[in-house]
Amino acid sequence: PKIFVITPTYARLVQKAELTRLSHTFLHVPQLHWIVVEDAPQPTPLVTDFLAASGLTYTHLHKLTPKDRKLQEGDPSWLKPRGAEQRNEGLRWLREMGAAAKGKEAAGLEEAVVYFADDDNTYSLQLFEEMRYTYRVSVWPVGLVGGMKFERPVVEDGKVVRFHTGWRPNRPFPIDMAGFAVSLRLVLTNPQARFDGDAQMGFLESSFLQNLVTMDDLEPKADLCTKVLVWHTRTEKPKMKREDALQKQGLGSDPDVEV
Ligand code: UGA
Ligand code: MN
Repeated sequence: PKIFVITPTYARLVQKAELTRLSHTFLHVPQLHWIVVEDAPQPTPLVTDFLAASGLTYTHLHKLTPKDRKLQEGDPSWLKPRGAEQRNEGLRWLREMGAAAKGKEAAGLEEAVVYFADDDNTYSLQLFEEMRYTYRVSVWPVGLVGGMKFERPVVEDGKVVRFHTGWRPNRPFPIDMAGFAVSLRLVLTNPQARFDGDAQMGFLESSFLQNLVTMDDLEPKADLCTKVLVWHTRTEKPKMKREDALQKQGLGSDPDVEV
């Protein structure tokens, strides 16, 4: 089965570095279709050229987060959800593509899976083989998240019975975006399922999943959720102190060099 990976991304100094690292992971994954959704009013040359040279099968979309929904400089990072509009745009494209598919192509989509991969996390190759066979929603642990070594679904007798998490365990699905994949069939047969850009902190994943499954339906992967195969890494924002100082003297870096 095919894996459709939806990645929201936005312009910042580390963007190309993040996308480079991510693409090198994906190049090792068979049958992967990358849906890159820029948080921008139109596609940017950086991402357009990057994807064209990537060697991956991809779809390049864009959807600007409305200003009132976007985190402003100085806001705490938990104030508003990130990437919600972009993931919904990816879902919209999948549904449009699913509705248009015919014959052999449509048959190939029946077992496909959808994964939401942020551009800054770290993904093992094994993760993709774990998610590849997903009937409804598969789940697994996520490392370095929620102020813990890992969060994970707790499995008893092959079923998810609760979640190991340090924060609001009573959320419908206390699970990071990186910790689940959904069958394309479920996405197509539930056209109303989407991410709520107004969701309270920590409820973005639940806003999507609660329209699709119950805890009982979850398919535990990664050796019954005992292995960490994805890490919620976050990249440090580079300091531009010297750059700014040189710029003031008219000696800034050549703006024609893409970073
Ligand atoms: C955590 C979760 O891992 C995210 O999946 C979730 O979207 C986020 O919290 C949230 O609460 O909204 P975190 O590391 O804090 O992740 O979020 P980022 O990695 O900064 O952003 C998630 C994705 O959205 C990234 O792919 C990023 O490139 C994208 N993004 C971020 C945008 O498209 N626009 C933005 O303005 C910011
Ligand atoms: Mn992140």
